[in-house]
Amino acid sequence: MEEMEVNMNTLLAAGLLLLFVMPGELYRIPPHEEVARMARFVANQCNWASMATISTHEPVQGQPFSNAFSTSDGPVGSGTGVPYMYLTTMEISVQDLKVNPQASLSMSLAQTDFCKNQGYDPQDPLCAHIIFSGSVLEINGTEATFAKKALFSRHPEMVDWPTDHNWFFAKMNITKVWVLDYFGGVKTVTPEDYFKATPYPTRDTTERTPQPV
Ligand SMILES: *[C@@H]1O[C@H](CO)[C@@H](O)[C@H](O)[C@H]1NC(C)=O
Ligand SMILES: *[C@@H]1O[C@H](CO)[C@@H](O)[C@H](O)[C@H]1NC(C)=O
Repeated sequence: MEEMEVNMNTLLAAGLLLLFVMPGELYRIPPHEEVARMARFVANQCNWASMATISTHEPVQGQPFSNAFSTSDGPVGSGTGVPYMYLTTMEISVQDLKVNPQASLSMSLAQTDFCKNQGYDPQDPLCAHIIFSGSVLEINGTEATFAKKALFSRHPEMVDWPTDHNWFFAKMNITKVWVLDYFGGVKTVTPEDYFKATPYPTRDTTERTPQPV
């Protein structure tokens, strides 16, 4: 009986270990040559972005205005590449978007353990970061249903945000992706290539896949 309990505990411990070990393997950073994959990786790993709008507010009207927003493109490990946001027009940058929906969204692996563990400074080109150009569009219907799931699962407190703020779901409609990763300057990815790319190793790749511990 006692032996069985020990075995159960060992099993449980192994299970927990698997849970903690696997993500690191599954979510391994793509090779830097695969720029579109890297962009998708960064977009999926990051929980928030700095969004620049063209300010409508005095005394900086017409000037870039950068502000932090919670984002999600889906669950970690299976993102769609589309950065979704939960917005209200009570928010200063969203007021800018109502006048001009054009925006720039920046995400960095400096947010994640990757750069910290490697000892990469956020401005180090090895600490991959991306910039989206495009515009922020309100979404509805099934896409909004998906956005809600994607956002609320990664930002649990959103469910409690005050209902009288008229929150709505929005997405960054990407027109260009700029990738700052590795040496040799900025690289760009078209939306088409970006959405075609797979950020994580799949079964049919020759890449190392997670092994049971
Ligand atoms: C959803 O949004 C599109 C474009 O903004 C609009 O044409 C459409 O009527 C909206 N649908 C609903 C159900 O609100
Ligand atoms: C959305 O982005 C695509 C490029 O991916 C572009 O062709 C289209 O004009 C954009 N739509 C809006 C409403 O900005």
